Amino acid sequence: MTIHIGARPDQIAETVLMPGDPYRARWAAETFLQGAELVNEVRGMLGFTGTYKGNRVTIQGSGMGMPSLSIYANELISTYNAQTLIRIGSCGGMQPHVAVRDVIIAMSATTITSPSSGIFREVNFAPTAHYDLLAAAVTAAKAKGTRTHVGGIYSSDVFYAERPDLDEQMVRHGILGVEMEAAELYTLAARHKRRALAILTVSDHLQTGEALPAEDREQTFGDMVEIALDAAFA
Ligand code: ADE
Repeated sequence: MTIHIGARPDQIAETVLMPGDPYRARWAAETFLQGAELVNEVRGMLGFTGTYKGNRVTIQGSGMGMPSLSIYANELISTYNAQTLIRIGSCGGMQPHVAVRDVIIAMSATTITSPSSGIFREVNFAPTAHYDLLAAAVTAAKAKGTRTHVGGIYSSDVFYAERPDLDEQMVRHGILGVEMEAAELYTLAARHKRRALAILTVSDHLQTGEALPAEDREQTFGDMVEIALDAAFA
């Protein structure tokens, strides 16, 4: 057990999917895993372990934002020895060719700050996905026929942003979407030599103002979960 995860060490799999929302963790576990059992409910941050096509997998909520994800990812890595960590979440689209419902596979995650940025001092570290996982996710997404984009995303500290000039620079530099967790996940994975990837569904769009209705989210989210599971065990 850790401060924030109540599972026994043997109850967490080496492969962990991390949605921000703990209820999404429950939905994904009940929908896609066989024999899913609840392994964590500390602070309501639900975690489940089951199997997918015979492979053990844990789906553990990360909460919103890099400080929260950092707590869960650190404990999963250091105490539970998680080897593969895949964020499954939503993001805001930032390019005209990226539509609501599309999936983004994040090659890199730009930030202004993250919980790890203090250790880099003047260096702008480039948080990057694990290449094999990324390639496997692209293959899985193509096989499913999901509209998918692969490229850079922006991990922001704020959902309600007050810097339109910053968004402009992201758009200008080809950033596909904005979310709030991936950069710290990639940085922790690099530090501890683990595999990490973020796969995101575009839930809203910064340029068009379109937002996915709540009832439409489940199906789109489901495609992303299956892409993550197929990539993890490719
Ligand atoms: N996650 C989903 N949509 C987002 C947005 N517009 N900004 C930051 N994080 C998000």
